[in-house]
Amino acid sequence: MVSTKKGQEMYDIARRLIPGGTQLLSKRPEMFLPDGWPSYYAAASGITVTDLDGNTYRDFAIGGVGATVLGYADQCVDNAVKAAIEQGSMSTLNAPEEVVLAERLTDLHPWADMARFSRAGGEAMAVAVRIARTHARRATVAVCGYHGWHDWYLSANLAKDDALDGHLLPGLDPAGVPRGLEGLTRPFQYNDIDTLNSIVSGCGDDLAAIVMEPASDSDPDAEFVKGVREIANQTGAVLIFDEITSGFRLTTGGLHLTLGVDPDIAVFAKALGNGYPISAIIGRREIMQAAQNTFISSTSWTERIGPAAALAVLNKFEKEMISDHLIEIGQRVKQVWLEAADHTGLKVAVSGLDPLAHLEFLGDSAPAQRTLFTQEMLGRGFLAGPAFYAMAAHMPDDVADYADACREVFGLIASAASTGSIEGRLRGPVAHSGFKRLT
Ligand SMILES: Cc1ncc(COP(=O)(O)O)c(C=O)c1O
Repeated sequence: MVSTKKGQEMYDIARRLIPGGTQLLSKRPEMFLPDGWPSYYAAASGITVTDLDGNTYRDFAIGGVGATVLGYADQCVDNAVKAAIEQGSMSTLNAPEEVVLAERLTDLHPWADMARFSRAGGEAMAVAVRIARTHARRATVAVCGYHGWHDWYLSANLAKDDALDGHLLPGLDPAGVPRGLEGLTRPFQYNDIDTLNSIVSGCGDDLAAIVMEPASDSDPDAEFVKGVREIANQTGAVLIFDEITSGFRLTTGGLHLTLGVDPDIAVFAKALGNGYPISAIIGRREIMQAAQNTFISSTSWTERIGPAAALAVLNKFEKEMISDHLIEIGQRVKQVWLEAADHTGLKVAVSGLDPLAHLEFLGDSAPAQRTLFTQEMLGRGFLAGPAFYAMAAHMPDDVADYADACREVFGLIASAASTGSIEGRLRGPVAHSGFKRLT
């Protein structure tokens, strides 16, 4: 059993000083292993993470929440960032890297002519929606999937506070979002074109934008996405693909490149900077120009580190066939789960794009099984949970070691499940699976 005492103590202090304990819901220790998760890192490199207590783990969880697609402290990206720092990361003048990055991203996505940059994913989506509403001179947004914390998105929960359940974590309250936004953002379901059609017929001629990830948790459906494209064409709505998580996984660029369906705007973040903050909104010239008719502007969007990191990421993707590696590692991990389940009789479901794989434990005690999995894998030197985000730094030998540990732990869970003693094996409470207020 590993001791994560220092991490626990730090988190106790955090909960007193920081409402909710962390800046990102998905990094809350309660989401993984309440009272046991290491919570904080002292150092991270490749796939290795060292916690405050000096334990090291191989990260088979969510790799910097999907941001560090190459691996932690990647040398090429870090060298580019160090050079940017040495040349001065900020000045009264602009960073030329942003112009080069705009060129590179529009070259990779030939349908796009222009780019704007911000630093986080959610804010980039807010930029995209503002541009779309300005261009279309309409207000209603049809939305599918998760797109961040901003008012335009969370307002979907004003009409019915569970409208976005299934799109984002259940239980998110739109408190603080002005009632005046009610009805302006309306959710539809991936793979169910009728749910989009009913928004179209219900909003008159007011549809400004259709916002979606080109793939949901399961494999992308090119026919569905083509159908959405047609509705955007018919209604004049701006089609926005949120590629914040799907981008730079299956190919060098947006996943939509593999579907043969072009949006009007695409948004990237996470993988684009390998953990350094940078997000991009790329789009067709006539739509992007609407950014000039409204006010979208921020000091922090002009620093040099973000675009310098992104250029280094793009270079590495183009030189090293990174996507092929991510797909292969993801497929291997999915196989590991299926084989371990088969071998031990444990009931699981495996889904997701290969580089963004999901593992679901089935049955009544599923949340406790998931927690026990994380607890036992931690003891074997792995950060692990119900999702695995592949990084370029994951090597087949790492997967082989992970496979041995998974087989052992699945066996342990299966035997505990057969005797109804899963919770008895947990050293703390069951992990949260949705948003909960922390006291
Ligand atoms: C598809 C998608 N959109 C938007 C966001 C929000 O990005 P950020 O957390 O950088 O604000 C995320 C983050 O997980 C995401 O996966």
